Amino acid sequence: MTHWKPSRDDLQLSADYVDVWRVSTSLKDKDVAKFDSVLSPDQRTRAQRMRVAEKRQQYIIAQGLTRILLGKVLDADPKALRFDRGPKGKPYLGGSFANAGIQFNMTHTSHLALVAMTLNRELGIDVERIRENLQWQRLAQRYFSPLEYRSYSSLPKGVGLRAFFTCWTRKEAVLKAIGTGLGGGLGSFDVSVDPDAPPALLGTRWNGRFHGDWTLNQLEPGAGYVATLVTERDGFEVRCWEAKPGD
Ligand SMILES: CC(C)(COP(=O)(O)OP(=O)(O)OC[C@H]1O[C@@H](n2cnc3c(N)ncnc32)[C@H](O)[C@@H]1OP(=O)(O)O)[C@@H](O)C(=O)NCCC(=O)NCCS
Repeated sequence: MTHWKPSRDDLQLSADYVDVWRVSTSLKDKDVAKFDSVLSPDQRTRAQRMRVAEKRQQYIIAQGLTRILLGKVLDADPKALRFDRGPKGKPYLGGSFANAGIQFNMTHTSHLALVAMTLNRELGIDVERIRENLQWQRLAQRYFSPLEYRSYSSLPKGVGLRAFFTCWTRKEAVLKAIGTGLGGGLGSFDVSVDPDAPPALLGTRWNGRFHGDWTLNQLEPGAGYVATLVTERDGFEVRCWEAKPGD
């Protein structure tokens, strides 16, 4: 069981750790305002254009928390931090901190956001809420690789739903770690599918396009959710923190 400890102000990033913060995105307006107050003008404009209130709130909290955490580790004004994007949209620190070695990635879903950070290792993180109203059987057939789909089909019926969402987070977190997002091709690699087996990248068909070796960690963000963290190389410990507005 993942233990989420209260967040600490004196945290130093290190390549020996990957730090992951969990935050509720179901907050009162006055708490959302604390995250909103650190957004850049561009981010605020993007938030204001989001029509669905729940999505807007998730965005504000995930982006605001990322800025607050980066501001703490860099001892910098969170509002002044500049984010650049990789060729396929992956956010990185820009401006005067572009070469600080800090890597981060975030994910949000109903009621929950996760932010991961470390030094000198690429990262990808994905969370999903387990939802029964999806046609997950059909989606697995469409999006999983042939190897994954065979493995998925051999699992006992009762684990199908959890297996689908677990495998999905493993795949999406890999695509976020390599920076392509879904455009990188869900079928271009194989992960382990059994939710009770160690998460692993089993094989890739990337033709040398993406280097590095990747470690998958399964996180337990809360009942009804699954999450995967993908980190470049191994030899680190994952630390999990609970973030609250005003921390
Ligand atoms: C990026 C993507 C994998 C995110 O998946 P998701 O489940 O919808 O959203 P999550 O909450 O897990 O993650 C969203 C965050 O991932 C980060 N992100 C965006 N693009 C990313 C990328 N290429 N790699 C890694 N992280 C990325 C951002 O911080 C984003 O936050 P924001 O939406 O608040 O700006 C997915 O939206 C995607 O691939 N979209 C299509 C992008 C794409 O292929 N564009 C075409 C460019 S060629």
